[in-house]
Parts: sequence; C-alpha cells; structure tokens
Amino acid sequence: MTKICCIGAGYVGGPTMAMIAYKCPNIDVHVVDINQARIDAWNSDVLPVYEPGLFEIVASRRGKNLKFSTCIDHAIREADIIFISVNTPTKTFGAGAGRAANLEFIERCARRIAEAAEGHKIVVEKSTLPVRTAEAVKRILSESSNGATFDVLSNPEFLAEGTAIEDLLDPDRVLIGGENPEAIEALVSVYAHWVDRSRILTTNLWSSELSKLTANAFLAQRVSSINAISALCEATEANVDEVAAAIGTDSRIGPKFLKASVGFGGSCFQKDILNLVYLCQHYGLHEVAEYWEQVVKMNDYQKSRFAQKMVKTMFNTVSGKRLAIWGFAFKKDTNDTRESAAIYVCRDLLRENAILNIYDPKVSDEQIRNDLRELMANGSGELSQLDRRLIDENIHVVESMQAAASGSHAVAVLTEWDEFKNADFERIYSQMQKPAFVFDGRNILDHKKLQQIGFEVHAIGKRV
Ligand code: UDX
Ligand code: ADP
Repeated sequence: MTKICCIGAGYVGGPTMAMIAYKCPNIDVHVVDINQARIDAWNSDVLPVYEPGLFEIVASRRGKNLKFSTCIDHAIREADIIFISVNTPTKTFGAGAGRAANLEFIERCARRIAEAAEGHKIVVEKSTLPVRTAEAVKRILSESSNGATFDVLSNPEFLAEGTAIEDLLDPDRVLIGGENPEAIEALVSVYAHWVDRSRILTTNLWSSELSKLTANAFLAQRVSSINAISALCEATEANVDEVAAAIGTDSRIGPKFLKASVGFGGSCFQKDILNLVYLCQHYGLHEVAEYWEQVVKMNDYQKSRFAQKMVKTMFNTVSGKRLAIWGFAFKKDTNDTRESAAIYVCRDLLRENAILNIYDPKVSDEQIRNDLRELMANGSGELSQLDRRLIDENIHVVESMQAAASGSHAVAVLTEWDEFKNADFERIYSQMQKPAFVFDGRNILDHKKLQQIGFEVHAIGKRV
C-alpha cells in the first residue's frame, strides 16, 4: 500500500489530499500541520476551509485512509511520497521585500524531512514556488542525517477556490515536473486513478515550476485587461459586459476570465506576478519585469478607482455616512479573504471616515478586522491610533444583507455571492437613506429593476 504524507493542511493541501484519499482507497493519506487548531478543525464538523462539496468527501474518508494530525516526523518516516504544501507569502522584509516569495516555510519543511526521513522518498513541491526552488530543496535534502535519498518533483496545483472539488475531480491537466522517470511514474500512477493519462503532462522540473507562475500571470492579465477597458467604457458609454461577450466569441480569445470587477484578489495572482517580476529583475530582464508589473498596477488602480467613485458619487463625502458592504471574500463560495479587493476598498472608505456595515456569509468579524489591521499597518509597520480607532469604532460586522443596508446611504457589492442577486430590494430601499445608491462591483444585480425601485445604480464599465 502506498503511503502519502502532506505537510501543510491549508486551502491547497486539505482539499487535494482529501480527493486523493477519496479516489485512491488503496493509498493511505496523512495530512500534517504545525497548527494544532487547524488540525482539530479538519477533524471536526466545521472544516477550516469552506469549499462546496469538501465536507462530504472529507467525512467519507476520515478515519479510513485519510488522517489529519500534528505528528509531522512520524508521517514523514512512514510515507513513500511527501507533498510540501505550505504557504509561500510575499516577503515583507529584507531583499526582495514586497515581491520575492518568502521561502522560510518551505526551507523549514525540507530540513525537517531531511532530519526525519529514512530510506528513499519522493518529495513533491505542491506550493507555488519561484522557478529553481527545487534546486534549494534538493541541496537541503542531500544533507539528510539518516542517509535517506530523495527524488524531488514539482506538481503545482491549478485548482481555484470555490470550485476546488470540481477542479480536482476533473482537472484540465495535471502537471508533473521531475528528473527521474521512475519517480515521475510513481506520482502519475496516483493521479491516474481518476485522471486520464492524456491529461497528465510531464515536463522538466523548471518548466513545471515556471508554468504555474505563468498560468496565474496570464489569468490575472486577462482580468486586468478587461478592467482597464472597463474604465474606458465608463468614459465612452460602451458597455464592458457587451465588449467582453463580443471579444469572447473569438475562439482565439475565448469567453472565460473576462468578467470586469472591482479587482482580482486571492492568495495567488498578485503574489505570483510579483514573484515573476522579481525573478525577471534577478535575471536582468527589466523590460519583462515592467511588462508584468503593470498587471498588478492596473489591479491597484481598479480597486482605488472603485472607492473613489463611491465617494465622488455621494457628493464628495462619505464622512459619517453608513455604507453597506456586501461580501468580503475575494470571490464567491470561499471563506478566503487573502488579497480580497474588499480589504482595499474598505480601507479607503474608512480613511474617508465612513461607517461600514459589513456582511459576508462565510467571513468572520475577527477575520475582517484582522485583514484591515494588517493592511492599514502596511505590512510589518505599527497601526496608527487613528486607524485603530477607525477599525474598532467604524466597522460593524452584521449577520444579513438587510441588516447591513438598513439605515445606509449605499450598498456596495464587493463579492459575487449568489444570495445578493435574490435580495428583497424593495424592502431594502424602504429602509435606506435617500438618495439610495448601489455600487455593483461585480455586475451581478438586475440594474434596471433596481432603478425602477428608485436606486441610483453604478456598475463596473457601463452607465446604468
Ligand atoms: C487562481 C487560479 O485560477 C488557479 O488556477 C490557481 O491554482 C490559484 O489561483 P483562485 O485565486 O482560487 O485561483 O481564484 P480565481 O477564480 O482565479 O479568481 C481570482 C480573482 O480574480 C478573484 O478575485 C476573482 O473574483 C477575480 N476574477 C476572476 C475577476 O475579477 N474576473 C474574472 O473574469 C475572473
Ligand atoms: P495554501 O493556500 O497554499 O494552502 P495556507 O496558508 O492555507 O496556504 O496553508 C498552509 C499551511 O501550511 C498552514 O496551515 C500552515 O500552518 C502550514 N505550515 C506552514 N509551515 C509549516 C511547517 N514548517 N510544517 C508544517 N506545516 C506548516
């Protein structure tokens, strides 16, 4: 029986390992983490990660061939294949701060594997890593204290949050980079339990590492491209949804990832592009670095443009005004808020002294305040007294759309949760200050109907 260990029980490690356990009953899967609370949550009825369909899959294999624990060394020793699936945030200090990936968690894992492992192991990089990280991982592993030997593979994850289970069940492709054909085949045979071999691509290590960064850069570039056009649409009376539909029918362009929005978020896009920028600079490719950096700058522009438009529309002041914020997660169907556009928009509105009633079906009060604290403290800096007061006193996290809108001057839709489309807008309108504004940062609402009710409606990339 093959044994798999996964170090890191996060948004990637948890769902991916649950799917392997579900599809491969003959493989023992042990997911380990240093965070006891996270492991306890994986063993409970309220998983630390919200994903449609995830709970059912975890519940069906937990206690059979799927285990969650903090026994890291034990799991390493037992495993034939060890996935590294820890976080690789952007560095906030030292050389490359704000761009390069912080690889300290990866390095710590590699050192721990080197210390605990015996015999031969296949080590798989699952986390998104800068190209050539495998070189460092291999160096560290080669210093193993017990004379263990290793093959290192790169197997980046392409699942998107909110659709993780669908993406894992039926991936466009599985990518495996490596050097030793036997090690590659061992991992291919795991995925081949449910993925057709024609969709399992094998490459050299560096192509695999770089493909992950490139895929995310291309996807983010599409969003920034359509968002750039949305600003032009607002100035010219073109309609960005119509433009997207028109260009998307060109089979060379395709219809996906052309939805104009308040800006992209998530743990990958910005981080990976900045990483790419840093790598290009490292190799002296300054024009290439500038080209990709523009994708992130356009996203920053889109987020601040949205907040500024709200202020300008509401007679150039939101000071003391109550505003309803619908949605805080970076996209629907996830409780993840990393790099969510909502954090930036809320920061800008708070600094205009607005009072924010925030509602998100899956994000907690604590998470919202933490995200704002972190952003307003600007990375590692201290939070100013004024910002602390704004976060403590001007934010109210509420339990429903209705509660957020009641007494507010405006509703701002920042995440495209389905329930927002079915809100009782007649009732909401009757409880709001007048004029009542709606700022649809996701273009999901029925704008004509809202206007008939009496709202003044603003959307992305079109005049309503
Ligand atoms: C992304 C990649 O899609 C995935 O393959 C990779 O493994 C990790 O990064 P994820 O961050 O989970 O996945 O979400 P994704 O669906 O790509 O959306 C990212 C952001 O772009 C979200 O904030 C989303 O709202 C925004 N977006 C996406 C748009 O604004 N418009 C679009 O058309 C598509
Ligand atoms: P991702 O979205 O990439 O899955 P997360 O932050 O959700 O990222 O998950 C990464 C997980 O890795 C966290 O639960 C964290 O506690 C865990 N982790 C980080 N470093 C280590 C380590 N050295 N050993 C074990 N687990 C680790």
